Amino acid sequence: MNENSVGEARDAAVGAAMNDIQQIETEQGVTRESVDAIRQRLLKLANQRDLFPLDDFPAPGADAEQSNVMYRLAQGAQDRFALYAQSGRGTVETPPHNHTTWAVIVGFHGQELNKFYQRTADGGVEQTGQFIVEAGSGVAMLAEDLHSIHIEGSGLNFHCYGLALERLDQRQYYSESSGEWKIFSAVGEIREARTNLQSC
Ligand SMILES: [Fe+2]
Repeated sequence: MNENSVGEARDAAVGAAMNDIQQIETEQGVTRESVDAIRQRLLKLANQRDLFPLDDFPAPGADAEQSNVMYRLAQGAQDRFALYAQSGRGTVETPPHNHTTWAVIVGFHGQELNKFYQRTADGGVEQTGQFIVEAGSGVAMLAEDLHSIHIEGSGLNFHCYGLALERLDQRQYYSESSGEWKIFSAVGEIREARTNLQSC
């Protein structure tokens, strides 16, 4: 496939996956079972490896302020059903946070350690488990589930949310240094990666 046909085939495959995901949510609502079905559908998309050449999703340069960038692959009506490819290099870490919408991560290249938490009676967090997201695996979370992300080295993973990142302005994260919950408003850089748009 040449470069254009890869982009077109990718858009078509992403569109088909997002249609299925929307249908899963419409038919099943938002439950542990339905977000797991969404995870399984995204794993099928990520398994179409020829559609996602790493060269199409470069990580930020070594001198860039941020070590990761989000490539927007899909965003539906009213900014629902958003899909991104997160490309990073070096160390990428987040504090424990919720999403205020369902969230699914599936792996493609590299390893993304996810740690899961629950809130404690004194207002903090305690870890409840962890899972390494890599090619062929993924995690699914409901709106109030808490996780943190830890990546070392280059990585490309798919992040899918019930609502686009720029609309998630009430996410909370736990600041270990201050022992407080704060608003996680930083979205970071989002690059347009849909080829079927005239402009972004
Ligand atoms: Fe997250």
